[in-house]
Amino acid sequence: MAPVLILQLLTLFPPASYPKPWLGAWPATVVTPGVNVTLRCRAPQPAWRFALFKSGETDPLLLREVSSELAEFFLEEVTPAQGGSYHCCYGKPDWGPSVWSQPSDALELLVTVTLRCAGGLRNVSFVLYRGDVAAPLQYRDSAQPWADFPLPGARAPGTYSCYYHTPSAPYVLSPRSPVLTVRAQDSSSSDYTRENLARLGLAGLVLISLGALVAFDCRSQNHAPAGVRP
Ligand SMILES: *[C@@H]1O[C@H](CO)[C@@H](O)[C@H](O)[C@H]1NC(C)=O
Ligand SMILES: *[C@@H]1O[C@H](CO)[C@@H](O)[C@H](O)[C@H]1NC(C)=O
Repeated sequence: MAPVLILQLLTLFPPASYPKPWLGAWPATVVTPGVNVTLRCRAPQPAWRFALFKSGETDPLLLREVSSELAEFFLEEVTPAQGGSYHCCYGKPDWGPSVWSQPSDALELLVTVTLRCAGGLRNVSFVLYRGDVAAPLQYRDSAQPWADFPLPGARAPGTYSCYYHTPSAPYVLSPRSPVLTVRAQDSSSSDYTRENLARLGLAGLVLISLGALVAFDCRSQNHAPAGVRP
């Protein structure tokens, strides 16, 4: 029993003399859907093969056999589902096939979708709501008559609405915008088409148009901003 256990521990935790590699993302770790992302894994010593892992999965997502210190992994035209935590490892020829170096630090790849809430006033605060949740999802003060809300793409599908209000008394509140629905893409399909991508991109860029300005009640000057509620 005991020798087996020791063997497994050695496989899972290679000696500290196999120091961890470094993982980086180009052009950035926060990208919009459709961007080609390159993940570079750099080993502290020449290696024979490299593996890219996505968190929560035990098998390598991608493998590269290169006799150098650097391997590149290409994630073409990333989708929100490809956002997440990645790490890489390297292996040397004299190690067993399932022996990997210590993992690199985790790299968080965020594939974002942006929702824009557009209104009719400058220098106001925009508030984004999701679904039936009463609490705002995000706030943005903006000098422009709109505000952009970035969302992690994988968690973006859902319904959204927004409104804006002046930052101080007298409080002017807009009505709530019409609801915008961001649809989930079919991430189970490996044959992910450009058409799907274009649709998602459009949904993400749709302006949440607000109706005419409203509800300016002079009496609200005397009220606390508690009036600023859904
Ligand atoms: C991504 O890479 C593929 C293959 O190299 C290329 O055909 C495509 O045009 C690239 N897309 C973008 C948005 O750069
Ligand atoms: C918005 O705020 C900026 C900076 O405080 C100010 O210069 C500008 O005049 C304001 N614009 C409006 C329309 O109130």
